[in-house]
Order: sequence, then structure tokens, then C-alpha cells
Amino acid sequence: MYEQASHSLLNDILNRLKAEISSRDLRHFYTRLGANFYGIHSLFKHLYGERDDFELQAQRLVETMARQYIRRPPALRKVDLEREKDFDWFLHQKWAGMALYSNGFGGDLKGVGERLGYFQELGVNLVHIMPAMKCPEGASDGGYAVSDFRAIDPRVGTLPDMQKLARDMRKRGILLALDVVLNHTSDEHEWAIKARAGDPAYQDFYYTYPNRAVPDMFEESMPEIFPETAPGNFTWNEEMQRWVMTVFNSYQWDLNYSNPAVFIEMLDVILFWANQGADIVRLDAVAFLWKKIGSTCQNEREAHLILQLLKDCSQVTAPGVLFIAEAIVAPVEVTKYFGEDAVIAKECEIAYNATLMALLWDAVATKNARLLREGVTSVPLKLERATWLNYVRCHDDIGLGFDDNDIRQAGYEPVSHRRYLVDYLTGQHPGTHARGVPFGRNERTGDARISGSLASLTGLQHALESEDPQAIDHAVRTILLLHSIICSFGGLPLLYYGDEIGTLNDESYMEDPHKSGDTRWVHRPTIDWEKADRRHTPGTAEYRIFQGLKQMLAVRSEITVFADFNNRELIAVENPNLFVFERYNVTARTDAVLVVANFNGKPQSLDLDGLAHWGRHRYGRLVDLYTGRRPDLVNNTLVLGGYQFCWLSEMW
Ligand code: GLC
Repeated sequence: MYEQASHSLLNDILNRLKAEISSRDLRHFYTRLGANFYGIHSLFKHLYGERDDFELQAQRLVETMARQYIRRPPALRKVDLEREKDFDWFLHQKWAGMALYSNGFGGDLKGVGERLGYFQELGVNLVHIMPAMKCPEGASDGGYAVSDFRAIDPRVGTLPDMQKLARDMRKRGILLALDVVLNHTSDEHEWAIKARAGDPAYQDFYYTYPNRAVPDMFEESMPEIFPETAPGNFTWNEEMQRWVMTVFNSYQWDLNYSNPAVFIEMLDVILFWANQGADIVRLDAVAFLWKKIGSTCQNEREAHLILQLLKDCSQVTAPGVLFIAEAIVAPVEVTKYFGEDAVIAKECEIAYNATLMALLWDAVATKNARLLREGVTSVPLKLERATWLNYVRCHDDIGLGFDDNDIRQAGYEPVSHRRYLVDYLTGQHPGTHARGVPFGRNERTGDARISGSLASLTGLQHALESEDPQAIDHAVRTILLLHSIICSFGGLPLLYYGDEIGTLNDESYMEDPHKSGDTRWVHRPTIDWEKADRRHTPGTAEYRIFQGLKQMLAVRSEITVFADFNNRELIAVENPNLFVFERYNVTARTDAVLVVANFNGKPQSLDLDGLAHWGRHRYGRLVDLYTGRRPDLVNNTLVLGGYQFCWLSEMW
């Protein structure tokens, strides 16, 4: 949009730009800046317009975008142009990801690079390397307390190692996703060190207060994120003689985004990693970016404006780069991180589907799909040009963040149902073999979350220990069943490293004083490559899981209706144990695939006659795309074994 005030400011800024910037070939940069500047200016003004130095800050912002554009390697600029043309590229069903810690997976970044063939063997072509930036030696919240945003942690490698990995991945067509921890820094970051030394400019990078007045006001409405290990949201700093806001751990200082210098620095960090070769930047803890007294300090409108501004600016410099919103918030809040009132994502193109993840665990624990169906219906539709990141497990805990109303609709009472789920998944309930570990139990509110590896949570650990072949079979089937949903639901499936070979809980974290208080370490493994080798040995659990997932990803990549175009219809069926939905071609319903998943251990049936497009006329011509075989049909009733799923399609 053309608008005089912003245009005239832009002209002034461009006239003042240093010779170093104005002498370069910035054709594409200027086109994109022109297209986005009205939006950038409005947002920046809304957030920082009251300041005397507003114009100077706006100039710094433009300089930051221009400098990083000049540094953007030609190969990445080419990718930008390609993706601008093929703008729906990331909605394609061919993409499948894995999240990993580089040290746990390959020892270090070089080790990850040596194992790129492993991803390709499995069918993974997007790798999220969890924080690899410099962080404190001791506790660092798994790298989410960053002490230098532009350096690699020496324990996993160097910046050239990361650059090489990015190049090698690109050559093989594997996308690289990296974290930018936006909400806070470690207390060892140079900004925190300067703030502690008394520099007011850097104290203004954080929320610091000389006494409890403001912290007490905040505390009235702020929940606690890590109630067991880091109660409260402020930490007293002796050296600075001030309280500092620390929403997560006491050593993670929350950044103050009401200061434009913080915004500009963090934009620069995002563009820096974009220029190192990240295709996707995972923006950590985005719900927390804006703090307001009297609120929970989550999902505030300004947090969204900050994300929109980051997106607009990043599109000017590195338009091919996508953002993932890590916002583990209520279903109605999470879709807002795509950007509201838009078709294309104005904030983040991808968002974690934490609701689906939690609902899947509910289905495991209840052995039916009642709440899963209710909960999925309550998640608002996503934007056209945005997608979900669907996952079963990740490096964090499982939070039971679904809606109380949905729990009631499914026929349960919210408090006791949540308690049941925690008990079931942590092995406290009779008849469960799950080996989860409670996380973040809040004595005051009674809340609890759950840690644990996929294999241990689904009973594989128990089954292997008790050498019970039937229990092993059930656990393996459950693991594949869960993945069958994230692979067919619409969105990017993100596997978690180790799950593909049934990695069990790792208790060794308890011996490390920096980790022992945080049960999430139980599911952040070091891959046992001998165990991984068993993926080639028929009869082992590793073989069944790995080969099953490999098959699933290969089949998925060929099913065009699995691309994510809001082309899913949930189908209400009488049998509560089944989760059923259809994926279809948006223009013609011809290529439809019916996904049927049985969360119960016993065989279940589905009368296909009752389903509009799947009735009698298709009888006898159906195939399960996953197995390539005809499904079990008795007349027109489909029969699925315990924990079985199928991807039904009409044979041509
Ligand atoms: C994100 C990360 C989590 C971390 C938190 C604070 O939620 O996924 O591991 O503890 O941010 O940085």
C-alpha cells in the first residue's frame, strides 16, 4: 500500500543510508521493502512511535534489513526467488521432519552431517537441530538459555561446521530448521553482564526493578511455568541489586520488547541464522513476548504485532525463510500465531499443533477417540498458506492443554479426567504399562504434565522388560498408529529423534545435578547406534518401528491429497474407538483417502455404508494405501485389528 507518511520516511531513510549500503545492487531488496514498508512502518510506529528517537530507530531497522540482505549468500537469494514463485511449496506432502539434539544424535554437528543418509533412509527431509548456540556450561535449559546468539556451542562445533552442515543438507534436499530463542537470554549473555554491571541501556534490555512493587503486581496474574524448579517469575540479582523477570528458569532473563533496540537486535539474529542457511527458524516461546501487568503475560496483542513485524522485515531480506511458532497455548489462541484476518501467514507459516499431540495421548490413555474428535473439531481452521507441525513427542513435556468444554462434551469431568490421564501415563493406574514421569507438578493448582519417551509411554519398555511378545506388538502398533495420524492429518509431521527405533527412557540425567530436577531429560537421549542398527534385523522392535515409519513416509509422499490445503473432513461415526477423517482433492473428490484409526486394543468395525462417499459403490474396490493390500471387509463393514489404522482409497 502507498501512504504518504511512511513513504516520505522511507525516502529520508534511503537518502541517509550509508554509501556502503546504497552502492550495492539492491533491486530485489527495494522491491520488497517498498511492498512491505507501509506495514512495517505502521507496526513499528504502533509499538515504538511514542519515543523521541523513533525515526532513528526506524532507520536502524532498515539498515539492519539492508546489511543482512547484502550479506545474504547468492545461493540463498536464488532460493528466495524460487520460493517466491512457488509460494505453496511447504504445504506439499513430501516434507517430513525430525527434531534432534546434535550431541544426542550424532555427538556434534559434524556427527549429524555424517549421518544425513540415515534421514534419507527413513524418508526425513527436514531436520530441526535444537539449540546449538553458545550457552552456559552448567544448567542451560537444554540450550534454551543462550549466551551468544551468533556463536555455536563449542561442545557441538563451530560456525563453519553449521555452515557446512547447512550446505550439505541443501545438496541433498533436506531443509534445516534452527531455533532462535526470542523471549529470553541466559544470564551469561553479554547484555545481561552489562546490565549487572549497572549499564542502564542494557538494564533496559530486560525487566528489572529495584524493589518488589512491580514484581508483586505482575505475580498477581502470571502463572508459573516451572513451578517445581523455578517458582515465581522474578529473581533477585545481588550484583545489580534489582529484581529481574525470569519467567522460565532463574538464569533465563526475559527480554524487554518494549525497547526497540531489543527488537532490532533479535531481528538481526534471525536474519543472521537465515544467512547461515536456515530454511526455517523456530521462534521459541512466542506467546510470552509481551508483558502487561494484570494479564497472564501470554498471547498479548503486542506479542502478535512483534511477530508480524518480524515476518514483514524478514520477508524483505530473506523471503524464502519460514517461521515456526512455538506457542503451546489454548486451541483458540494458537491459530492466531499464523496471523489473524489474513489468507497468507502474517506471523508464522507453521505452528506446533500441541492440541492434536495432547489429544492423541488422551486417545492412548482412554483407548478411545471421544475427546480426540471433540478436541480436533474445536481447533479453528488454519489459514490457506500456513500449516501445522504435527508431532507425537518432542523434547518437552506433554501438557494436557485441551479445553475443559471438550472434555465435558466427551463425557468426562475435567479435573478427574486430567488426573486419570496423568496417572495412566505415569504408570500409576492399574492396567497401564506406561512409564511416563510427572513434570511441573503444581501443588497449588494440582496441575501436572508428563515426561517420557514415546516407547516408554506406549508400554514398549515394560513389554521388553517382561519379554511379552503380545505387549511388544501392542506397543509397536500404538507407536505406528500415532504416527499414522500425524502423517495423514495435514501439516508437517515432525518425528522426534530416537522414536524411530523405539528409544526408551534414559534415567542417566538423574546423576547430573544440572539436569536432575528436570524430568524432560528422561526423553532427550543419546542415540545408541547399535540399537539403531537393529532397524535392519527382522523380528526386532527397532525393525518394525523403523520400517513401518519408513513405509508410511514413502507412501505419504505420493498421496497428493495429504498436502495441506484445508482439505480434511472429520467424520462422526458411532464407534467411539475409531478416529475417522477424509482427505480429499479440493476441486474433485475423486482422490479421497479415508483415514481410519482404531485406538482400542480389540478389533473394531465400521459400517462403510453409513459414510457418504464410502458406501456400497466402492465395496470391493478399496485398498489400504499403507499396506498396499485390500482391507478386511465383510460385506460393507470394515474390520480393523487392535491399534490398527488404514489409509483407504479406491482402486483404479
Ligand atoms: C520452549 C522450549 C523449552 C524451553 C522453553 C524456554 O518452550 O521448547 O524446551 O524450556 O522454551 O526456553
